[in-house]
Amino acid sequence: MSEEARLVVVSNRVAVPKARGAAGAQGGLAGALNAALKDRSGVWFGWSGEEAEENSGEISTQTTDGVTTATIDLSKRDVDEYYNGYANSTLWPLFHYRLDLAEYERETGKGYERVNERFAETLHPLIEDDDIVWVHDYHLIPLGERLRSRGVENRIGFFLHIPWPPTRLFVSLPYHERLVRTMLHYDLLGFQTQEWLDSFLHYCRTELGAEVDDATGSITLEGRTTIARAYPIGIDWDHFSGLKDTGDARQAEQRLLSSTRRRTAMIGVDRLDYSKGLPERLDGISRFFDRFPERVRDLVFIQIAPPSREDVESYQQIRALLEQKAGQINGARSEVDVVPVRYVNRGYSHAQLHGFFRAAKIGLVTPLRDGMNLVAKEYIAAQDPEDPGVLILSRFAGAAAQMQEALLVNPHSPDDLSHAIATALDMPVDERRRRYEALISTVRYDNVQDWTNNFLRDLDAP
Ligand code: G6P
Repeated sequence: MSEEARLVVVSNRVAVPKARGAAGAQGGLAGALNAALKDRSGVWFGWSGEEAEENSGEISTQTTDGVTTATIDLSKRDVDEYYNGYANSTLWPLFHYRLDLAEYERETGKGYERVNERFAETLHPLIEDDDIVWVHDYHLIPLGERLRSRGVENRIGFFLHIPWPPTRLFVSLPYHERLVRTMLHYDLLGFQTQEWLDSFLHYCRTELGAEVDDATGSITLEGRTTIARAYPIGIDWDHFSGLKDTGDARQAEQRLLSSTRRRTAMIGVDRLDYSKGLPERLDGISRFFDRFPERVRDLVFIQIAPPSREDVESYQQIRALLEQKAGQINGARSEVDVVPVRYVNRGYSHAQLHGFFRAAKIGLVTPLRDGMNLVAKEYIAAQDPEDPGVLILSRFAGAAAQMQEALLVNPHSPDDLSHAIATALDMPVDERRRRYEALISTVRYDNVQDWTNNFLRDLDAP
């Protein structure tokens, strides 16, 4: 990237320091982008997370540590139709292969387009000639095309943080072709894994009749060429691993250790989302205790699940189901002095999570489908190299492509999960070290700075 090129980042959430609604420790995207912008002067534009009576057109700006954030409020109708509606009740379930949960409402589709148009209108005057623009995630797919229609000729890239579904599922979306055609106005498209990229290229070839070169990722349609590649996101290694020596991390580690005493702590940390496979995880744990009832004295499971997208019905349902399942296991398996499942509906700081991960000798990351999953990487990053814990990871998380030395499981199978828990619980330290050493190098070196540099290097090269 040339020295002068300023970076303009656009995403639905913006991590405005101290703002309500900014995705915190549990949201992968906001933390990753903050790390990416730290060393670059530039602007980060998006929704404030606030609802306003009216769309005032007012932009609120703030500069902290060299990063300027520019945010707008959205009206209640915009939030309902664009965020709760099309983004999180249509695209999110569909892209996570949940056709059964995907809703198609004409009104929310219109609201999605309207808010993207509004983002383009407000952002346009902030873009200078040499800026490069980087748009993020499924909320803002048409934004590049909206900017082009206003005459923006800058290099514009788009990164999708979630999976791209197979063509057979994707074509169930009304107006799917219209949505994908807008993507071909970007110069560069990024996906988390080769698998999601392959699905996208397949769609462009078979449904749009585009000319696709699999080797270079170039897609040509009607005289315009876009490049599409896989860029697996990583964690901010320096920041996260540096938390080890903080008081908060140490306290959290001690707190968990002293409350579990001789039992092995097994931990899961996920936004409360149906894509994370939480009921299936509890079924696997229940199966484990059915098979080995005496091991209730060896293992305690801690599930941290901060509520998410609470205005969307499918999220309310998943919450009720989890409460019921956690209650059932505890009712059936508890003793007066032993409770097997601790289910916690709140978030913790990154430092505290570091401490909890280090105290827990098993990390359980079992989404039914996930673009990447940074919790898997953070869990490994927090381990003690001399006495590391074991990561149990869903083969359907994007992270599994890079983390083959984890215990890979099919999250739909209670037997598979139960078997992996038993293996992890009894794994000798030599094998734990061997697996950890293989995993730590991808976590450490394929980090978020590397991800940003790779994407921006390709975006900058015409
Ligand atoms: C996923 C998405 C992000 C989103 C985050 C939290 O990681 O890819 O775009 O910010 O979930 O969800 P929320 O709806 O709270 O922004």
